Amino acid sequence: MTVRSILVVDDEPNIRRTLTGLLEDEGFDVKCSASAEEALEAIGKSPPDLLLLDVFLPGMDGIAFLEKLREKEIAFPVVVLSGHASIEMAVRATKLGAFDLQEKPVDPERLLLAVRNALEVARLRAENRSLRASLRAPGAILGEHRLMALLRDEIARAAPSSGRVLVHGENGTGKELVARAIHEASERREKPFVRVNCAAIPKDLIESELFGHEKGAFTGAAEQRIGKIEAAEGGTLLLDEVGDMSLETQAKLLRVLEARELERVGGRTPIPFDVRILSATNKNLRKEIEKGSFREDLYFRIAVVPIRVPPLRERASDVPILALHFLARLAEENGRKPKRFSKEALDRLIAHPWPGNVRELRNLVERLVIMCPEEEIGEDDVARALGEPAEESGADEAVSLRERVERYEVRVIRETLRRSGGNVAETARALATDRANLHRKMRRYGIRPREE
Ligand SMILES: Nc1ncnc2c1ncn2[C@@H]1O[C@H](COP(=O)(O)OP(=O)(O)OP(=O)(O)O)[C@@H](O)[C@H]1O
Ligand SMILES: [Mg+2]
Repeated sequence: MTVRSILVVDDEPNIRRTLTGLLEDEGFDVKCSASAEEALEAIGKSPPDLLLLDVFLPGMDGIAFLEKLREKEIAFPVVVLSGHASIEMAVRATKLGAFDLQEKPVDPERLLLAVRNALEVARLRAENRSLRASLRAPGAILGEHRLMALLRDEIARAAPSSGRVLVHGENGTGKELVARAIHEASERREKPFVRVNCAAIPKDLIESELFGHEKGAFTGAAEQRIGKIEAAEGGTLLLDEVGDMSLETQAKLLRVLEARELERVGGRTPIPFDVRILSATNKNLRKEIEKGSFREDLYFRIAVVPIRVPPLRERASDVPILALHFLARLAEENGRKPKRFSKEALDRLIAHPWPGNVRELRNLVERLVIMCPEEEIGEDDVARALGEPAEESGADEAVSLRERVERYEVRVIRETLRRSGGNVAETARALATDRANLHRKMRRYGIRPREE
């Protein structure tokens, strides 16, 4: 269990001491502030899971303090403490969203109960928010670029058959999303969609993962286990990162696909199955075949219909659509007010080469939602989040030739570094310059060899 943190705000030292002792004994991580001003600073650094607030404070009082928190959309439960004299204030505090009100002198049992209830309610609310967000967004494939229209066409044509589709494309382009869309548009949609990440499973476990195993098949196989293929019966199995499968497993999989039946590890009876196999990879499997690390016969089995998901830079006009979609969705998931992008910020996003594609864009927007206090996200915020030097909008006619050239330089260096896996020497060679010069430029533009 994670330790929950509580911030106690009270001007009386002995109350702070008593409450700290009481809450620490219950396993909470307790911090104290003697004033609202001090508390605001502490919260700015790291927000607690819960706030215990004495409303009657010297300086900024509890009510003004709660109003400040509300303005900043800071959302954690607040339990208010009040003496007799300040009871009216405490009632106003509950109107401002305080969860509960405890009268001084504090009754330890009642206080602990209020604290636990408040934490539980906050947890449920957060869970609810993320559930609602995930229900509303069933993973539609967004994008109006011609290439996306073609992609949707391909999905629509491939889906109804039971044809084995290989979805390929760079990291983060949306391959898994495409695979799910194929399943959803097929007659198997009511049946399971199961995904196996072939890259994440250790070599000696993948067969048991795919085909299952019988009890006692190997050390550690204490129970019989159903594999992913059987689990997908009647539905669709996605072999994700299929290019990372070992040659040995490829051979077994090939046999299973040809026979349309499998044997669990340690089992003897063949089990027939009816599962549509989809695969996804960011590798060029033709090259892997040439290198001898992927079987050609398996390739032809799984790539009956190859579908390519284009990288984001080939459809840059879709960047705003995606960015706005993520902005709305992530603000909701994080329980924040909706934000917007300035025009310059959007232009900056469009100009970025997006080596990590849609996933990179999504992560960037999430960072902006969390880090930007303002309602409008500006160009500088985007530049900072991208780790780029601040520059002006590409659409701005007044941008000098020099600036444009520099901007282009930044892009080329980033892109080449990414392709060489962050190897500076190799990048310098590819750009026909020397390392010292490249290092100088990288320092000047704040480019790191390996960026997310
Ligand atoms: N066209 C799109 N419209 C909406 N969301 C998208 C689109 N493409 C990708 N996404 C979102 O971007 C993220 C990455 O997509 P996904 O996991 O499908 O990519 P991937 O190609 O499988 O990535 P990886 O190479 O990292 O496995 C997901 O959150 C996905 O929902
Ligand atoms: Mg994927």
